[in-house]
Amino acid sequence: MSEQKTVYLADYLPYSHLIDKVDLTFRLHPTATRVLARLNIRPNPARKDRDHLRLDGEGLKLVSCRLDGQAITPTLDARSLTIAAHELPVGAFTLETEVEIAPEGNTALEGLYMSNGMYCTQCEAEGFRKITYYPDRPDVMSRFKVRIESDLPVLLSNGNPAGQGQGWAEWDDPWPKPAYLFALVAGDLRAHSAKFVTASGRPVDLNIWVRPGDEDRCAYAMDSLIRSMRWDEQVYGREYDLDVFNIVAVDDFNMGAMENKGLNIFNSRYVLASPDTATDDDYARIEAIIAHEYFHNWTGNRITCRDWFQLCLKEGLTVFRDHQFSADMRSPAVRRIEDVVTLRSRQFREDDGPLAHPVRPESFVEINNFYTATVYEKGAEVIGMLKSLVGDQAYQRALDLYFDRHDGEAATIEDWLKVFEDVTGRDLSQFKLWYTEAGTPRLKVEEAWNDGIYTLTFTQKNPPTPGQPVKQPKVIPIKVGLLNPNGDEVVPTIMLEMTRAKQSFRFEGLAAKPVPSILRGFSAPVVLERKAPPEERAFLLAHDTDAFNKWEAGRALAKEVMAAMALKGAPVSPAWLDALAAVTFDDTLDPAFRALCLRLPAEDDIAQTIHAMGRIPDPARIHAARREMAGALAIRLGEGLSRLYRDLDDNAPFSPSAAQAGRRALKIAALGLLSRRDGGRLAASAFARARSMTEEVGALSALLEVGQGQAELVSFAARWGRDANVMDKWHALQIAHAEPAEAAAVAARLIGAPGFDWKNPNRFRTVIGALAANHAGFHHRSGAGYRLVADWLLKLDPLNPQTAARVSTAFETWPRYDAARRKRARAELERILAAPDLSSDLREMVERMLG
Ligand code: PHE
Ligand code: ZN
Repeated sequence: MSEQKTVYLADYLPYSHLIDKVDLTFRLHPTATRVLARLNIRPNPARKDRDHLRLDGEGLKLVSCRLDGQAITPTLDARSLTIAAHELPVGAFTLETEVEIAPEGNTALEGLYMSNGMYCTQCEAEGFRKITYYPDRPDVMSRFKVRIESDLPVLLSNGNPAGQGQGWAEWDDPWPKPAYLFALVAGDLRAHSAKFVTASGRPVDLNIWVRPGDEDRCAYAMDSLIRSMRWDEQVYGREYDLDVFNIVAVDDFNMGAMENKGLNIFNSRYVLASPDTATDDDYARIEAIIAHEYFHNWTGNRITCRDWFQLCLKEGLTVFRDHQFSADMRSPAVRRIEDVVTLRSRQFREDDGPLAHPVRPESFVEINNFYTATVYEKGAEVIGMLKSLVGDQAYQRALDLYFDRHDGEAATIEDWLKVFEDVTGRDLSQFKLWYTEAGTPRLKVEEAWNDGIYTLTFTQKNPPTPGQPVKQPKVIPIKVGLLNPNGDEVVPTIMLEMTRAKQSFRFEGLAAKPVPSILRGFSAPVVLERKAPPEERAFLLAHDTDAFNKWEAGRALAKEVMAAMALKGAPVSPAWLDALAAVTFDDTLDPAFRALCLRLPAEDDIAQTIHAMGRIPDPARIHAARREMAGALAIRLGEGLSRLYRDLDDNAPFSPSAAQAGRRALKIAALGLLSRRDGGRLAASAFARARSMTEEVGALSALLEVGQGQAELVSFAARWGRDANVMDKWHALQIAHAEPAEAAAVAARLIGAPGFDWKNPNRFRTVIGALAANHAGFHHRSGAGYRLVADWLLKLDPLNPQTAARVSTAFETWPRYDAARRKRARAELERILAAPDLSSDLREMVERMLG
C-alpha cells in the first residue's frame, strides 16, 4: 500500500472524458453493500487525443461491468479500472458497473462507513473512489441521481427528494458537482426542523438530523444556520439553491464537518449544544462551522477547485467569509484577536518548521495531509490583505464578477486573482507570491524624527523554507496610526503599501515625535520585529484606539517578560503588572477584551518567540516562568480581583450571547487567579454552584491548576460519563493541568482505560492532542511524551491513517529544541518510519518532518 506517487501541479491535464450524468443505486448492507453506477460518458472536446478511459477505484469488488449494455472485462489494478481507447466507441457511451463494498469494516472513515449503526460517507478529498469506479477529481462535474435501498427509516443524499417508499428513497441533485461533494446517510435519525424563505421567495426545508434523544440540543446550530443563510444573501448576494438543506451529526468523523451539496455532515461535537453541555467556546465554534459549511455552497460547491492544489481557493475564501460572519455576529475586535491567536499558534508554528508549505502547494503525496492551517488560516489572511489593498468596494465588485464568471466551473487561483485584476486594473503578480511562497515574513521597523518629519522604515525578510531557499519581497499592507505623547491619536489608521525589501514612509506636520501603532488589526500575517521599551508597550495598551493593537501591546510585553524570565531568570516586570492591572479594572472596556488580555501567552508561543531570537527554548523554564507570572499577577491585582469576581457573578438566565460569554470569560479568568491565592476554595464553591458548562469547566480547571479538584473530577464523571463529547473535556483538562513529569503517564492511563474508545477520532485527538498541547509535558526531557505519542500513532495508523497523520504534527516543532530532546524526538520519528505497512499518509508526514 505504501508506494504512492508524488503529484505535481505542473502536470495538470484536463480529464480525457466528460461525465454528463451519474445514476447511483445503493443496496445497503453492513458487510456487502452493492453500488450500481450508470455513467453517461463522452470524450472531452478539450482533449484532442483519443485517450483510454481510466476510472479511480480502491478496495472495490467488481461484480459486473457493461459498456453500452454489453458485458466487458476491463483492466483492473489496486487503484483503477481502465478501458483501452480502441475498445471505446467513438462518441458518447454508457458505462454500468456494479461493485461490492463493506462499510462496517471501514475504520479509515473515508468512503462509505458506519458510525453507531448509521451509514454515512466522507468523500473529500479522494474518498469517492472507495465507493465506486469514477474519475475522482474535482474538475469532473456531473449531475447525480441517487437511489438508496435500505430498511432504515431515514435515507438521505444530495439535492432534492425525488420520491420515497417502503425501503427506498430517491434524490436528484440538479447542480453539477464533483464526486467529492457526494454524500449519503442512512439511519434511525430524528430531525430538528425549521423553514427558511430565501430573498427571492424560495421556501427551503431545514433539518438537522441526530440520534434519538439529541433533538433538544440542535437549537443553536439551527439558529446559526438561519443567520448564515440570511447573512450570505445580505453581504454577498448569495441565495440558497435547493428545496432542502440537511445537516447530519455523526460521532465518528475525521474532521470538523463537510460541505456536501445540500447534505452537510458534521462531527457531532460541532452541532450539539445545550447550556449544561457546551461551553461558550463550543457555541462560538458551532456558529462558525455551521456558517463555514453553509458558505461553501457558493465558495466550493457552485464554484469548485480545478485540482487539489487549488484547495485554498475554496478554503481560504470560506474561512475568510466565516470570520467576517463571526465578526458581524459578535465583537469584531474580540474575534480578530482570537483569530490571530489561532493563526500564530497553528500557522506560524507550521510555517516555521519542516512542514512549511505555500498556501498553494506545488506537490503532494497524500492530499489529506494538506488540510492545514496554512491553506485555511493563512489562505484567509491572504484574502484579507487583498481586500485591504483594493478596498471594500472593489472587493465586492470582484466577488460579484467571480460568481458571475465562474459559476458552475472548477477554478484556479489564477482565475481568482484575474477577477481582481480585471475589476481594479492592478497587476497582482507580486501579490501572488503570497500563494506560491511559504514562510512567515519578518518585518523590521525603525523610526526617525528629524525637523518635524517622522519616518518609518520597514525591512522585510522572507526566511527560507523546505524547497524554497530564496524568496522575493512581498506586497505587505501595513496599517498604521500615530498617537501623540499625551495619548491622542494624531494620524488615524492609514494603509502603507510596502512592495520592496526596504521602504520608508514619511509623515509631516507633527508637533512632537509620535508613538506609532503599527500593523493595526494585524493587517498582514507577518512577524513584526520592533524593539520598544516596556513603557511604550504599556502606553499603547492604555491608549491605542485600535483594539487589536491595544491587546497586541500587552501581549508583546507579556511575551518579552516571559522570554526574559525563561532565558535569564529575569523578575516579573512591574511595568507589565501595572499595565495589566489598569486594563483588568477598566470597566469601560469590554469584559471579553479584558479576559483576552488576562490570558497569558501559551508556552509553545514563547518557545516560538525564543527560537525566533536564535536561542534554544527550555520547556521546563518556560513553564516555571508562566506560573510565576500568573502568581505575581494574582498578587498584584489584590483585593480588586475578588470584587471583580463578585460583580460578575450575577444571576441572569443563561444566554450564549457574546456579551454574556465575555462576562463569563472575565469571571473565570478572575477565578483562576484567585484560586492561586486561596488554594481553590472559591473555585470549589463555584464548581458546586455552576449553572453552565462554561462555569463548570472554568472552575474545574482553576482547581486542577492548583493541585485540587479530585472530588470534582469524580462528580463530573458521574454526571457526564455517558456523554463522550462532554467527557472529552474531562480528559483534556486532566492532561492540560498535569505536572510536566506526569503528563505522559496521565495521558497513558486515560487512553488505555478499559472502555475508552481510542479508535474514535474525537477521543484520540482529545487525549493525544492534549498531551501535545501540554508543552512542558510533551517535551519533558525524559522523552516519555514523545514515546507515548509515537506509540499511539503507530497503533492508530493501520486503522485510520488520516487522523494518525494529522495528529503527528505534534512533532512538527522538534528541530527547535536542544540536542538531547532532538535526539529523542528523532528516534521516535525514525521508529515510526520503520514500521511495516506504514500508511502513505503518516509516512509522508514523518518524512517531511525528518527533512
Ligand atoms: N472541506 C471540509 C471543510 O473545510 C473539511 C474536510 C476535509 C472534511 C476533508 C473532511 C475531509 O469544511
Ligand atoms: Zn471548508
